[in-house]
Amino acid sequence: MNWREFWNGTHSIYVNERHRALHYDRIAKDIAALVPTPDACVLDYGCGEAETAELVARRCAMLYLYDAAPNVQARLRVRFGRNERIVVLSTEALDAMTDHSLDVIVANSVIQYLTHQEFEALLDLSRRKLKPTGMLVVADVIPESATFVDDTRALLTFASQGGFLLPALTGLAATAFSEYRKLRQEIGLTRYAEEDIETLFSAHGYRAERSATNIGHNQSRMMFVARPL
Ligand SMILES: C[S@@+](CC[C@H](N)C(=O)[O-])C[C@H]1O[C@@H](n2cnc3c(N)ncnc32)[C@H](O)[C@@H]1O
Repeated sequence: MNWREFWNGTHSIYVNERHRALHYDRIAKDIAALVPTPDACVLDYGCGEAETAELVARRCAMLYLYDAAPNVQARLRVRFGRNERIVVLSTEALDAMTDHSLDVIVANSVIQYLTHQEFEALLDLSRRKLKPTGMLVVADVIPESATFVDDTRALLTFASQGGFLLPALTGLAATAFSEYRKLRQEIGLTRYAEEDIETLFSAHGYRAERSATNIGHNQSRMMFVARPL
């Protein structure tokens, strides 16, 4: 199994429903806060189930959702098919989208599952689709120095604040034997040193800056805001 197959299948990366709901709520609020104006066109790239995407859609003119996993795309179409401000894109539709038409592209918690080459292809695609005044936000980037302790501490703090500490502790034990852990050990997650990812951004035509905060609960991970040069 590879990461694409993992995300296309059934998995349980959330310890319970409350964790899942709080996760999507937090992500949507953080993305909504990045929308610059109500007439903005926004793409959430690698959006996953995006359960609270309406919250983002209310803050912009059009929200495009794209996820590479066909099963995720199918569920998004069922969930948001009736929302006039949300468009679920296929890979072909994303590619065919008018160039320089997007104000914001967000890729949260995605590039750790991509090879360096795939991330570079995403940088080029985004550069093509963004308006000259637009911005690409790449968040939840795992620093090279990250440890298992950083992720565990972040999850337990989130769980303690969200009232699901006990399930989180049980979930951590279960994760040790999960498919996710197995893949993480076998294939690994792509990590970046801050200076290396900044070099990549500029090689692909962006001026990028690390933000003080990250999208989501894990503030030990990095977020970058990149604007076309
Ligand atoms: C950890 S989830 C993040 C989902 C969402 N962005 C969030 O923050 O909750 C990673 C998602 O990236 C998607 N993904 C993985 N590789 C991708 C690619 N090459 N292009 C687009 N999406 C991809 C997966 O299908 C999965 O839904």
